[in-house]
Amino acid sequence: SATKVTKICCIGAGYVGGPTCAVIALKCPHIKVTIVDLNQARIDAWNSPEFKLPIYEPGLEDVVRQARGRNLFFTTEVDKGIQEADLIFVSVNTPTKKSGVGAGFAADLNYVELATRRIAAVANSSKIVVEKSTVPCRTAESMRTILEANSKPNCRFDILSNPEFLAEGTAISDLFKPDRVLIGSLQTAEGKAACNALASVYANWVPTERILTVGLWSSELSKLAANAMLAQRISSINALSAICEATGANIDEVAHAVGFDSRVGPKFLRASVGFGGSCFQKDILNLVYLSESLHLPEVAEYWKQVVVMNEYQKRRFSKTVVDTLFNTITGKRIAVLGFAFKADTGDTRESPAITLIRDFQSEKALVNIYDPQVEQDQIWADLAEASPATPLASIQKQVSICDSALAACKNAEAVVIATEWKEFREIDWEEVYRGMNKPAFVFDGRLLVDAEKLRNIGFKVTTIGRGERL
Ligand code: UDX
Ligand code: UDX
Ligand code: ADP
Repeated sequence: SATKVTKICCIGAGYVGGPTCAVIALKCPHIKVTIVDLNQARIDAWNSPEFKLPIYEPGLEDVVRQARGRNLFFTTEVDKGIQEADLIFVSVNTPTKKSGVGAGFAADLNYVELATRRIAAVANSSKIVVEKSTVPCRTAESMRTILEANSKPNCRFDILSNPEFLAEGTAISDLFKPDRVLIGSLQTAEGKAACNALASVYANWVPTERILTVGLWSSELSKLAANAMLAQRISSINALSAICEATGANIDEVAHAVGFDSRVGPKFLRASVGFGGSCFQKDILNLVYLSESLHLPEVAEYWKQVVVMNEYQKRRFSKTVVDTLFNTITGKRIAVLGFAFKADTGDTRESPAITLIRDFQSEKALVNIYDPQVEQDQIWADLAEASPATPLASIQKQVSICDSALAACKNAEAVVIATEWKEFREIDWEEVYRGMNKPAFVFDGRLLVDAEKLRNIGFKVTTIGRGERL
């Protein structure tokens, strides 16, 4: 088997595969990196002459500008990409199953399996196959079984697990300076050799003490565990934010004081309207499903509460909006600032904004939406999916998409901050105030704005996790 990697193929040009392999290409000019995808439009966007890339990620364009055409290529020729490579990342989507066994919880591994079977079918030399998909649940073991059952003479497959820990919005800096790179392999001589081959790719820019090598299943479980524990911190701080609101304590002060304990640490303790993103809920539900299938119901119940709390936080926030606006928002215009699940990304998967807007719709409010990055079509698709019984045309009678924060706030009764975009802190709040109906309300779901400053302008301000209201 190959011990020195010179050609890498990445199957899947999405949020994970694209940035990860673009950075590998940038940092390893001696390795040819080919990213393949079945989706022609996506590949075309990666190849766009104007660098209109399919995902928005600070710093990504610069990386692609440097490496594309040099040793970084994007193509729909999946089979050729597989055949050429000595190492293949499988970075395809793993959505939550919508039907069948484990619906709503288990990962749909159909895409992983199809990609794996494709590798088995077309490979004509030995390959290191690396699982990098976002939901690893003993996936590597299934991949190994499929590949071994289909291997040809002189064609061996070594499977590695190499979960990706990048966060959207900071993907490029996370990839440049990862806290750690985790590689899982079988603890056989061949497994360890494959592990070393991948480790030496990362060693081109990652300090070796940050490259951790473990068993295959530990690696996969660590990814689920890391996301579950991160999400749990947010649900914990959000649970405390409810106590703060009911008592007059301030969640910022509480988080600051708690985070000063070096055993807890200060990061990732920002109370919010709820976490979103493609990973947290999905990974926890996978952990729940896994625990149940291992006959560990107490463990399943424990992790499930993290998601239950997150749903509660979103519902609690929309209820606060209705309660504060004199118990009815029927016919009232509400400006929702931010639609992405966090700042600095155009990604809307599981965005709390979707839930809030759906709640406002069902209260018969009129909603204006502004987000600096999310495409209009994406917003309509998300809102349609959230209210499957409502035709899009009726949604569009209630909801408008605006092209600036100021336009969204015009003639509104209330402004709801759903995403922590920096520009919302810097908009001209005096002008926003002048354009709004009075009393003018602001609901800060992200602890973003200076509430005192806004109150001085005349706004009635409600902030997550603060007792004193308005
Ligand atoms: C997460 C993990 O951080 C990353 O390591 C993993 O690889 C993928 O999942 P991501 O979902 O891209 O990354 O973003 P993250 O920054 O973790 O935020 C997730 C959600 O939690 C966002 O909605 C964010 O707004 C929210 N959040 C985060 C909070 O509400 N409070 C915080 O303190 C931090
Ligand atoms: C704790 C808090 O640490 C301290 O800040 C507070 O003032 C009082 O409560 P204490 O109970 O004395 O202190 O000891 P601690 O070291 O926190 O351990 C508490 C329990 O957790 C022990 O039974 C310990 O064995 C257990 N523990 C601790 C673990 O099981 N695993 C760990 O990683 C850490
Ligand atoms: P992630 O967030 O995990 O990166 P994405 O949905 O953004 O997920 O990207 C996954 C990509 O994988 C999609 O662009 C999809 O078209 C691609 N894909 C899925 N199955 C295959 C396959 N068998 N061969 C090539 N590409 C695939």
